[in-house]
Amino acid sequence: MKNRRILVTAALPYANGPIHIGHLVEYLQADFWNRFQKMRGHESHYICADDTHGTGIMVEARKRGITAEKLIEEVWQGHTKDFADFQIEFAHYSSTNSEENRELCNEFWAAMKAQNHTTTKSVEQLYCNHDQMFLPDRFVKGTCPKCGSKDQYGDNCDVCSATYSPNDLKEAYCSVCRSTPVKKHSDHLMFQLDHFREFLLSWLPEHTSKEMANKMKEWFNEPLRDWDISRDAPYFGFEIPGHPGKYFYVWVDAPMGYVSASRQFAKKSGLNFDDFWKPDTSAKAGTEVYHFIGKDIVYFHTLFWPALLKAANFRTPTQVFVHGRLTINGEKMSKSKGTNIPARNYLKHLDPQFLRYYYASKLGNTVDDFDWSESDFINRVNSDLIGKITNLGSRGAQMLKKKSDGRMTEMDTDGQKLFDSAARKSEEIAMLIEGREFARAIGEIRAIADETNRYFDEKAPWKTLEADPASTKKVLTTTLNIFRMLSIYLKPVLPEYTKRVEALFGEKPYTWSDASQALKNHMINDYEHLAQRVDPEKVKAMMEDSKPKADASIPPSAAAPTKAAPGGEIEIDVFNQVDLRIGKIIEAEEVVEADKLLKLKLDLGPLGTRQIFAGIRSAYKASDLVGRLTVVVCNLKPRKMKFGMSEGMVLAAGAGGKELFILSPDSGAKPGDKVK
Ligand code: 2FM
Ligand code: ZN
Repeated sequence: MKNRRILVTAALPYANGPIHIGHLVEYLQADFWNRFQKMRGHESHYICADDTHGTGIMVEARKRGITAEKLIEEVWQGHTKDFADFQIEFAHYSSTNSEENRELCNEFWAAMKAQNHTTTKSVEQLYCNHDQMFLPDRFVKGTCPKCGSKDQYGDNCDVCSATYSPNDLKEAYCSVCRSTPVKKHSDHLMFQLDHFREFLLSWLPEHTSKEMANKMKEWFNEPLRDWDISRDAPYFGFEIPGHPGKYFYVWVDAPMGYVSASRQFAKKSGLNFDDFWKPDTSAKAGTEVYHFIGKDIVYFHTLFWPALLKAANFRTPTQVFVHGRLTINGEKMSKSKGTNIPARNYLKHLDPQFLRYYYASKLGNTVDDFDWSESDFINRVNSDLIGKITNLGSRGAQMLKKKSDGRMTEMDTDGQKLFDSAARKSEEIAMLIEGREFARAIGEIRAIADETNRYFDEKAPWKTLEADPASTKKVLTTTLNIFRMLSIYLKPVLPEYTKRVEALFGEKPYTWSDASQALKNHMINDYEHLAQRVDPEKVKAMMEDSKPKADASIPPSAAAPTKAAPGGEIEIDVFNQVDLRIGKIIEAEEVVEADKLLKLKLDLGPLGTRQIFAGIRSAYKASDLVGRLTVVVCNLKPRKMKFGMSEGMVLAAGAGGKELFILSPDSGAKPGDKVK
């Protein structure tokens, strides 16, 4: 068989929160597939990165009072730890906020422009004057124009499923600060997707499933619309060369992360990058690139992405593999119901191998959703993985080691037949995994285990051990050989488990072809536990742990009101809800209509700037304040005043009138520092 050269990717997870078990559906299946390719002797590299740009990440960082860079660094640490603990083996895990990715975006941009695939268009969007930013659809909320449900997102209604534009929402408000947004125009840069119409029409059927290609073809009933690839500042991302204040939309630089991460990986490992990503070189090298994605992002991966690659003269993916979503107990995952189980919560209670096995036992290669339920999960692990498969190894090995001399001999005639028929399944199972029919592959493995258990029970070696040790050892030899074979078939799914099996038989890391080689006259090692049964109590504890809790980080306006204790004392957590920070006064002016007020603009470092009206005019001249540091309450609900929004409070002490002194820190404090 010719050795293949493969690059596997999974969609880059957003760097605004932790990995949950819904994400793992994809990272795990791509891991199974990549490990399988390597076991078959191919060169296969699994590459991924965090998707770090966009409004969501910028807003999340502001909310936490840290810089976006700090947020994505923290999240990167969390994601990579979660993946490693789930035994997901990336050749390289990068970030889209890398210099390589910036360069690549610029390279793509230059190519698009040089070939006249770009244009500009004035776009009207909702804008929040308070946050001073354009609001993506997901950041506008309001009343659904169809059914009147309140607090619906700007693009669709969760209650009646209507889709609309945020401009149609009634009583729209900014989901960050709740103020009413205004409509505002801005010039955007557009990518002319329709230039790639013919290319995409012939590309689609060859590079994704029939089902997906047919679905995507519906978009071609009319001209493909220009794609808006720019966003206005403030935006966490890459500025577009030649367009100050304009940034590449996150969906432009995210898929490029596949390529820039490959470039970093090539540099690190000595591979030739062009072999994988340049059209001519990759065709000559015969390399393959596969993207694993969820069905909600097919449009990006099968229209925009191949068009961008084509425009910039890069190779396009060999196949885009699309999977469905995970539901929990038949329902969509939901944070408020506690079914959005973070990977870390799972790991706190349960063995990652169980989830790997469970997903493999459920996954096919279609876009159908699949369900996790407590009982199904426990049942498949306990009765199949432990009760059927592991049992063969544990009973066979313990009997051979403890009750006999620990040496496998040869198989009996019935056993040899059983072994041969199981070994003949090797290619069939391999083809199922190749075709991402994981559930069917597991079904075949389970069926072999069933037959072997029947054989074991019929031969009842525990009864014959003393009277006929030689033929009993043949039964144990068969059982262990088949168990070993099944562990090899399972290795892409259960790498740690199979490592223990390798140790039990004292062998080198298994490759796929080892499965059909039976051991003869072979000494085994002591049996070490391979896997425990799932404890239903632990599953319950994990579910309980994932339910939403009252959270101290919720701003006081959103958290349940906490009363002061008698005597005027408050709990420390009430005090901690007040976000006190150092602000630098960068502008100050008298308010004409109010003789007590000064209008201040303060720099709060990573939190941006704020406008605050402060009643300190009796003690200060506006111009004397500019450049001074002071203490600001940052999370006070913004107040609409006659002269504009006041977005916080400046602290001052004193009797009033001229006797009023703003609080200032010692030198060394910086804007944005927390006051503790
Ligand atoms: O949908 C998502 O979670 C995106 N972060 C996926 C990006 S995939 C690729 F294009 F980078
Ligand atoms: Zn706002």
